Amino acid sequence: MFRYIGNKTKLLPALMETIATLVPPRSTVADIMAGTGSVSVALRRENYRVIASDVMTYSRHHLVTQLLFSAPPAFEGLVGRLPAYDAGKTAYESVLDTLNSLPPRKGYFYREFSPDGTPANGCPPRKYFTSENAQKIDAVRETLNDWIAAGLITEGEESVLKHTLIMAVNEVASISGTYGYFLSAFGGSALEPFTLKPVSFLPDANTDHVVLQGFAEELAPSITADLCYIDPPYMKRQYAANYHILETVARGDFPEAIGKSGLRDWWDQHSLFCTRTRIRASFDKVISRMHCPQFLISYSEDGLLSIEELAELLSGYGEVTYRTVGYRRFRSNNSSKTRELNEYLIILTKNRGNG
Ligand SMILES: C[S@@+](CC[C@H](N)C(=O)[O-])C[C@H]1O[C@@H](n2cnc3c(N)ncnc32)[C@H](O)[C@@H]1O
Repeated sequence: MFRYIGNKTKLLPALMETIATLVPPRSTVADIMAGTGSVSVALRRENYRVIASDVMTYSRHHLVTQLLFSAPPAFEGLVGRLPAYDAGKTAYESVLDTLNSLPPRKGYFYREFSPDGTPANGCPPRKYFTSENAQKIDAVRETLNDWIAAGLITEGEESVLKHTLIMAVNEVASISGTYGYFLSAFGGSALEPFTLKPVSFLPDANTDHVVLQGFAEELAPSITADLCYIDPPYMKRQYAANYHILETVARGDFPEAIGKSGLRDWWDQHSLFCTRTRIRASFDKVISRMHCPQFLISYSEDGLLSIEELAELLSGYGEVTYRTVGYRRFRSNNSSKTRELNEYLIILTKNRGNG
């Protein structure tokens, strides 16, 4: 997938090994902070049934694309209307060809996020994308909005196109890891022309999954699963702030771009798992409300709670064990040195009577 704080791609072998000891294939596993979907996809591959959710809209598009499809959708509402239709290609490829050949537009991304733009709040131009790429992104965004408004694409097709668009936007963004701020100068892949590229689909027939969007605390009562994997944020950094541009692409809207960095108002998606004073109540809501006997929680040595604090909190619901699953190299913002950081996998087996 793409660089995303806390992405679990590297931990997948240890994670899947642990999950296999807890529940057999075809069990239902909830992945309620699914982010890029890397764990949900691994669960699909191992023949589990997945209930995947996250509070972010971009995550929903990633999850729908990767869990609910085994081939590109048919785009029946568009075929016949596409200037770049090619009977030798899939409809998906023809749709992308059409979008890639749109004339550039000086729209919201050009105005707010490119060096030739004039941000509405009077701040100096922002440099997330070259002016050429911002205009191409505008053309694609506005065309998708037109297609959605005209009822030409289904919700699933919208997700596939938004997922594809987000992957392409990430390729040319001039940032260092997150969208918290842009780099001072363009270089490398940010100078490459923006192009939508077809994504691959898992060909297996295992698409009997559920994708939801919302706060885990609120979705919990509606989820019944054999195991719930929780991969919470472990720092104060809010995902909604750090990935604001991806959220804007995912929603297809035109929010006020605030301050020098152009963040959207992200308060409606701020996570209580990033707040030391609220994290305990949030864990409580998720664990006590969900119909699920077992929880597997990833956490980092650098988290807001220490492993001892977290284990103690969880032990109020049942039996807790944890293992250290390895470490990753970590470089803090104000240090050039890297150090090793432990990641924990905590297993909670709920007491009977605890839901
Ligand atoms: C550590 S990341 C998950 C990474 C994911 N496992 C992956 O491999 O990409 C944490 C995720 O939790 C989501 N999140 C934070 N607080 C949440 C909440 N209260 N309810 C639902 N999702 C939440 C964030 O949007 C973010 O995508």
